[in-house]
Amino acid sequence: MNRIGMGYDSHRLVSGRPLILGGLQIEHDLGLAGHSDADAVLHAITDAILGAIAAGDIGELFPDTDPQWAGADSQVFLRRAVSLAAQSGCRVVNCDVTIIAQQPKLSPYKPQMQASIAKALGVDTAAVSVKAKTNEGMDAIGRGEGIAVMAAVLLTTETL
Ligand code: CDP
Ligand code: ZN
Repeated sequence: MNRIGMGYDSHRLVSGRPLILGGLQIEHDLGLAGHSDADAVLHAITDAILGAIAAGDIGELFPDTDPQWAGADSQVFLRRAVSLAAQSGCRVVNCDVTIIAQQPKLSPYKPQMQASIAKALGVDTAAVSVKAKTNEGMDAIGRGEGIAVMAAVLLTTETL
């Protein structure tokens, strides 16, 4: 059996925070605001996996009111979602991500980001796609006030 999941996340860009996306630190003068490390890429993928197994969402599992998750490495959330999927008899087939960021330029980071996500998901790098788009200067994201991410995953109960 196959299960599809989609996830979305966005965070504000602020000064005084590192920019963490897909488990990597990205060179930029602004970073994403949030309770955890605010890695919107890993949050969107986590929600996509939780969606595929109908297990709620990241905020329900890891409330941002819980001091335990202050400054948390979001790989913890993603790995927890993967292990919940495994408990439901599912493994990740592939993952496709779109990052909407007016700045910075993310294409130089894509291979490393794909490898980092693949490692957290426990899949081959070839099973992970990361795409980046600007918002063509439109709206808040186009003004560089934040970054949004969309993710899709396919899970299967079939063994390799
Ligand atoms: O060409 P199109 O309007 O579809 O896309 P764009 O938003 O103008 O982005 C052009 C290219 O820049 C994309 O294909 C990405 O590879 C790259 N890009 C990037 O590296 N970092 C971003 N934050 C946004 C886009
Ligand atoms: Zn988030």
